[in-house]
Amino acid sequence: MTARSGGPLTGTAQVPGDKSISHRALILGALSVGETRITGLLEGQDVLDTARAMRAFGAEVTDMGGGAWSVHGVGVGGFAEPDRVIDCGNSGTGVRLIMGAMATSPVTATFTGDASLNARPMARVTDPLALFGAQVLGRAGGRLPMTLRGAAAPVPVDYTVPVPSAQVKSAVLLAGLNAPGQTVVTEAEPTRDHTERMLAGFGARIETEERDGGCVITLTGQPELTPQQIAVPRDPSSAAFPVCAALIVEGSDVLVPNIGLNPTRAGLFTTLRDMGANLDYENTREEGGEPVADLRARFSPGLTGIEVPPARAASMIDEYPVLSVVAACAEGPTVMRGVGELRVKESDRIAAMAAGLRANGVEVEEGEDWWIVHGRGAGGVPGGATCASHLDHRIAMSFLVLGLAAWRPVGVDDGGPIATSFPVFEPLMAGLGADIRRDGA
Ligand code: S3P
Repeated sequence: MTARSGGPLTGTAQVPGDKSISHRALILGALSVGETRITGLLEGQDVLDTARAMRAFGAEVTDMGGGAWSVHGVGVGGFAEPDRVIDCGNSGTGVRLIMGAMATSPVTATFTGDASLNARPMARVTDPLALFGAQVLGRAGGRLPMTLRGAAAPVPVDYTVPVPSAQVKSAVLLAGLNAPGQTVVTEAEPTRDHTERMLAGFGARIETEERDGGCVITLTGQPELTPQQIAVPRDPSSAAFPVCAALIVEGSDVLVPNIGLNPTRAGLFTTLRDMGANLDYENTREEGGEPVADLRARFSPGLTGIEVPPARAASMIDEYPVLSVVAACAEGPTVMRGVGELRVKESDRIAAMAAGLRANGVEVEEGEDWWIVHGRGAGGVPGGATCASHLDHRIAMSFLVLGLAAWRPVGVDDGGPIATSFPVFEPLMAGLGADIRRDGA
């Protein structure tokens, strides 16, 4: 796919449902007895793979049309043994949460994924799951494909998560659901808290205590979860793309309505405002216990690079690729530290962005857990190169956003991965006036 600069971006961008919340709604629906109804589910490939996995574990999952889904769950500890390999495609969230959810039930399952997922570290999840009594057999380095035999007599666990990871935290909490007694998870820095909020919504006893800047979460095992009606908010991580595009394309004015601004997710928007972005929160309100606003983003010629506070990293971890594109269009350096986790996402996101930005005329420095983008100012990026997307949706979309503001077109070698999280990216961006085309089309 190739993106070219053209006129301003204008209009309203209705971005799809939140990916993190969509996975959790399907999994918790499958773990409660009775019917959970979900509206606004993200129908991206990652979430569809989780829906298929929940069916393989015995839940009845039905697409009712128009983003409405119904899940008839089997209850905590009620998973059936799948009769096939569970293929989670590209989704780290899917596989890690599902492994957690099955680890304390007496079933055995084998997991696999695409080339990206099969290269990602799983020991961070299977190490704590082994403490519950689960047995794991995987490839060298704790990689998929991997077989998990759930614990027949699970014991609760007290676990400190060694890396800032909501997926690890969530896997432990979901495993704790079917262990008797209290499972305790400690995290040094807070990460997205959708699992905790949703578990409480389904009726589990779960408490979070803030301690030394982090959190201690205590879950009481073996609750009876009550099915819920869940309205999935729109995804701030998807909103990031039209918002950032509007900030760097001359003359743009874009409204992105109904975006969840849970503080564990909204770090990008704070950072953009710190850089001088013309980004407003309109119609700020609460929905389903979450802060929500309409985002209005306008062309911002005066953006300046900043040092992003490392303590903010977890709340914007998926947004660094597109932030680096905005940083390329700002004056001066943008310094991003404490972001080693970017190297184990769907791709090594520091390496992928640094290579593509350099090929398009932007200077980037990088180390193991930091990188610096030297901005060229508004309208200053040469462009002209095609970048590798490395099976990573956010890398592909970030470079296409860059192409909308660069002198020459910017391409990506594979736009396919965009469908994992943002299946309507192309028509949505076209509706704003963006020139993004499939090569040969
Ligand atoms: C997610 C957590 C984050 C994030 C991912 C979604 C989640 O991963 O990068 O896209 O839904 O829990 P980590 O938990 O590995 O940081």
